[in-house]
Amino acid sequence: MARGGRKPAPDLNSRKESGMKHVPVMGNEVLSYLSPLGEGYRLVDGTVGLGGHSSLVLRESATAEVLGIDRDGEALKEAEKALEFAGARKRLVRGTFGTLAEQVIGTGWLPVDAVLLDLGVSSPQIDSPERGFSTRFEGPLDMRMDDRSGTTAARILNNSSEKDLAMIFRDYGGIRESRKLASAVVVRRLERPWSGTGELVELCRKVLVAGRKRSIPPATLCFQALRIAVNDELGELERGLRGAWEILRCGGKIAVICFHSLEDRIVKNFFRREASGCLCPPGLPECICGHKPTLRILTKKPVGASDDEVFRNPRAASARLRVAEKI
Ligand SMILES: C[S@@+](CC[C@H](N)C(=O)[O-])C[C@H]1O[C@@H](n2cnc3c(N)ncnc32)[C@H](O)[C@@H]1O
Repeated sequence: MARGGRKPAPDLNSRKESGMKHVPVMGNEVLSYLSPLGEGYRLVDGTVGLGGHSSLVLRESATAEVLGIDRDGEALKEAEKALEFAGARKRLVRGTFGTLAEQVIGTGWLPVDAVLLDLGVSSPQIDSPERGFSTRFEGPLDMRMDDRSGTTAARILNNSSEKDLAMIFRDYGGIRESRKLASAVVVRRLERPWSGTGELVELCRKVLVAGRKRSIPPATLCFQALRIAVNDELGELERGLRGAWEILRCGGKIAVICFHSLEDRIVKNFFRREASGCLCPPGLPECICGHKPTLRILTKKPVGASDDEVFRNPRAASARLRVAEKI
């Protein structure tokens, strides 16, 4: 056996073979980038969810340890069950990955060999009508990943200014008629406050449809925009990347799976910046910033899921994996 008790990678497409109930997105690719898993390998899984990726690492090496973080209490209950086999090699914490450095440093769980962020919502979140994430079901306009947080989608729709709503729809949903939609939201809330998903889907259809050929339905973009705002997803990602970089040992890896271009751009820019030497504006006669490269990018282009995986799990179609190593 190799260092850290490595076994041949399981065939993740066969649940029986992997011994897992939930097959994580791009599991083979993530495992191969994080390998080799040395003795006492430590992974911070910032989005532990149903424990899919963590389970792979903990099964792959008998001495690996995982600190799993999730802001969703329901997800943590599932992770607890999925990772029960690992006993004390796993620790689960309810919190946000934006504060992962504080959590790791505060508990002295160092050095860290890898940080994984598998962004976005989990299948149970999107498939639960009462969470309000999906345009497919009638439910409350909630969209909170952490039900202890005070900001719901309804609250944003009922209280934000028309200008702020337009900004959310444009910047987080890429909706071209963002001002038209914001105005319609405000007019409609004068009659009665926003509360249900169905009414918003209906409004998006009315306001945004106008014979356009779109690959993504307008209501889906509107829901994406609100979800990002409710959960401060882009701010979390910026803080999470910085925190991951702080706690990684030299040679440690950051792996991030993104599901839309806003997230992917933040990861790409962070990696590029940290992998660069001088960051001075062009035209200066000599470097005054003194910046040195601190990351080596291992995925020159983002890696997508295989055709086979997309066939089995269509949600993997938009997944993009980027990995970098701290130097
Ligand atoms: C796509 S799922 C992760 C699935 C997981 N990798 C698995 O294999 O089971 C994303 C998870 O990240 C969590 N999440 C999203 N943003 C978060 C944040 N800023 N901090 C902590 N957890 C977050 C969500 O609650 C959700 O459970």
